Amino acid sequence: MRSVIPDYLTEALDDVRPDTSGERAGYIPELATADPERLGAVFATLEGAVYGAGDIDTEFTIQSISKPFTYALALADRGFAPVLAKVGVEPSGEAFNEISLEPSTGRPLNPMINAGAITTHSLAGVEGLAPDQRVERVVDGLSAFAGRRLSIDEAVCASEMEHAHRNLAIAYMLRSHGILTEDPRAVVDGYVRQCSVLVTARDLAMMAVTLANRGVNPLSGVQVVPAPVVRQVLSVMATCGMYDAAGDWATQVGIPAKSGVAGGLIGALPGQIGIATFSPRLDPHGNSVRGVSLFERFSSDMGLHVM
Ligand code: DON
Repeated sequence: MRSVIPDYLTEALDDVRPDTSGERAGYIPELATADPERLGAVFATLEGAVYGAGDIDTEFTIQSISKPFTYALALADRGFAPVLAKVGVEPSGEAFNEISLEPSTGRPLNPMINAGAITTHSLAGVEGLAPDQRVERVVDGLSAFAGRRLSIDEAVCASEMEHAHRNLAIAYMLRSHGILTEDPRAVVDGYVRQCSVLVTARDLAMMAVTLANRGVNPLSGVQVVPAPVVRQVLSVMATCGMYDAAGDWATQVGIPAKSGVAGGLIGALPGQIGIATFSPRLDPHGNSVRGVSLFERFSSDMGLHVM
């Protein structure tokens, strides 16, 4: 088994490698300098075995893959009702950076789009934390999911903040509706720091398998968040994790998933496996082109589609 799986993964990587379509995320200038040829894939099992091929120890920023994990921290820290009062669970069918708010309440439609994720960032940690302490809570929580100490890429963070006009606009809208109750700029700054946490494909597979394992990291044995929180998070990943490509993903791959604009992609299959891929070129939805192809193949080869 130990050599069969890496061989399978190597073959899968070789098959998608010629596809150079898509673009690196240009709206965060620092991400546009990433090596576009990087490619890796990792499987992590509930027993703690990790199998990988390609660039599995290259660091890149987590970006939107932080969203389900920060949602989990907010639910665990504040409880379901206060979080659900501020962020819905309905797919938006719109791009990740749309101002998808419920017209009457201003509540973001779900925690996977930027509007919802900026809000959930503000709900991580106990009430009343200073912005820096909240970032610390988030980095600690993401680190517990990964099972190792993670850090922030300051260059990517600064680069995104310089061009964060859209996220700032969203945050000011949220503040005007009373969904955010603090200085919108400080919340966006914290959210961008959260997105700038450095991970490898190996880390992401461990984070994904922790979700697949009902919140327990298989290597550290730590229960990072309670099982009911994980059920909520996986449900929202299944319906909203791939933004306006969520329907295509559900039919073609059928695994709760989340993508990030640095090229990471995770899938978590409850009770079975955590999967992560890394390839920086993105499709128009902001999802990794080769990552999506790899997941389609894994799902079909191994019968992972849950529907
Ligand atoms: O807020 C943003 O636009 C980025 N920090 C994260 C967006 C992202 O990763 C979208 N996912 N594919």
